[in-house]
Amino acid sequence: NPAGAVIVDNPMPHRLPEGENAAPLEVIGTTASDKLVIIMVGLPATGKTHIAKRICRFLSFFHDIPSMLFNVGDYRRQLFGAKMPADFYDPSNAEGLASRTMACDAALADLIDYVKQDGVRVAAFDATNSTRERRRHIMQRLKDAGLGAKRMFVESICDQEGLLEENIRKVKLSTPDYRDMDPEEAVIDFKKRRENYLKVYEPIDEIDGPHVKIINSKKFIVCNIRGYLPLKVVHFVMNLHTLPRTFYLTRHGQSEYNLLGKIGGDSGLTPAGTEYARRLALFAKEYIANDAEEDPSTGEEVKTARPARLWTSTLRRTKETAQFIEHNTIHHTYDNGDTIAWMQFRPMARRNLDELYAGTCDGMTYKEIEKVYPDEFERRQRDKLAYRYPRGESYMDVTLRLEPLAQEMERTREPVLIVAHQGILRILYAYFMGLDRKEAPYVSIPLNNVIELTPHAYGCNEKRFCLMAKEEMLNDGQDEPVTSMPTKRRSIHGTTAEAVPATHYSTDPVMNAPSC
Ligand code: F6P
Repeated sequence: NPAGAVIVDNPMPHRLPEGENAAPLEVIGTTASDKLVIIMVGLPATGKTHIAKRICRFLSFFHDIPSMLFNVGDYRRQLFGAKMPADFYDPSNAEGLASRTMACDAALADLIDYVKQDGVRVAAFDATNSTRERRRHIMQRLKDAGLGAKRMFVESICDQEGLLEENIRKVKLSTPDYRDMDPEEAVIDFKKRRENYLKVYEPIDEIDGPHVKIINSKKFIVCNIRGYLPLKVVHFVMNLHTLPRTFYLTRHGQSEYNLLGKIGGDSGLTPAGTEYARRLALFAKEYIANDAEEDPSTGEEVKTARPARLWTSTLRRTKETAQFIEHNTIHHTYDNGDTIAWMQFRPMARRNLDELYAGTCDGMTYKEIEKVYPDEFERRQRDKLAYRYPRGESYMDVTLRLEPLAQEMERTREPVLIVAHQGILRILYAYFMGLDRKEAPYVSIPLNNVIELTPHAYGCNEKRFCLMAKEEMLNDGQDEPVTSMPTKRRSIHGTTAEAVPATHYSTDPVMNAPSC
């Protein structure tokens, strides 16, 4: 015994229940212990709702922290109707001011009830909150309610006319306030509304309290922010921008293991997989690599090369799928005049895009797993999100390792083509599409398809491109491989679909077409 020490047994060893894995990481994933109220500040059309929504989404999806947005505009519409004219917002209009305070108080009352519930909670109070008096009023209400929560302000400033105009046209005109209105009239009205706010706007200052100020999505002032959650929020918003951008998600082409119905491994592509790789390269070149705009004088479509990124996992099948994508150097000029030489689609292999690791089951078929490890198979059926393969990973583990990557996606301005794996893409898809984490392991991500995701202030648009029909896959005389666990499961719309491999199951009309 070292230095004569006596070796004794641990009198209280940590025992896992019979047949259980270690606790899923979600149980230990968050170290937050405080509640947090985030108060948004800024003139209309500066991206506040977008920022507040993304914060709530990020914290609830990746950190399992219940987070909710309270949008005063929604309360105002409920109380007084959607179509209030610009002078409703004139600070000298006493009636308008009283109504707006009423909407603010109604939203605050709900926020207070929400935050008072047990456990860690984040609430974002989304309104212009553009005068010091309004901010004092909010702080007083929170204090009176005896809310033991941290508070911080997030102010968004956007003084670039072009961006504002774009935000107004792309986002504001489709809100209920302007729906069915002539777009030009709507823009004029919205600008008048903004001017009314500008008359009394007082930017955030030290005396308001802890805050982060975001100036044109590129300059940040952080003042007096402390604590785990507030600093998480600061870090997140510093990665965020509100400009339009697009992601393209695709699984690798059919791999040798796909063909054999085996999971995991590091096999290469089959001939059908290589054919998909060729088609993907063409799709990348013709569709992703260019911005297509209509020339107003001729009405013809003009294509300009745009910077685009390419990420793969470190596994053979994704690298081989990306192998034919051309990387050319292009010269690109950003809106602010900066010119750069950009290697379009320079491939970057990232370990956190590697497929969910199936541990001792890696390289087996689902049938083999069911036979050799019936208990494991059964437990995965019961809780696919938290289930961790023996010596392998769970969907929760994968979610945690994808958090930094999701932040990078939030930060990126160029289109990104991600060539990865079913389990990985399910998580990224669920995050951007606003799905519950529990739904993520069942999302349909078929082979041979590219999913285009375009996040915007109020959600995310999705388009699916099928590059290769199923019939073309079967050209080697094999049965169709089972590329997802055949399981009794809830579909993403909450109905039950029984024992259907994911390749047959989709919510998308394109996927349900006979050949895709
Ligand atoms: O079958 C292809 C695959 O990417 C496997 O490597 C992986 O284990 C599996 O899909 C993930 O899907 P599921 O979670 O439905 O088993």
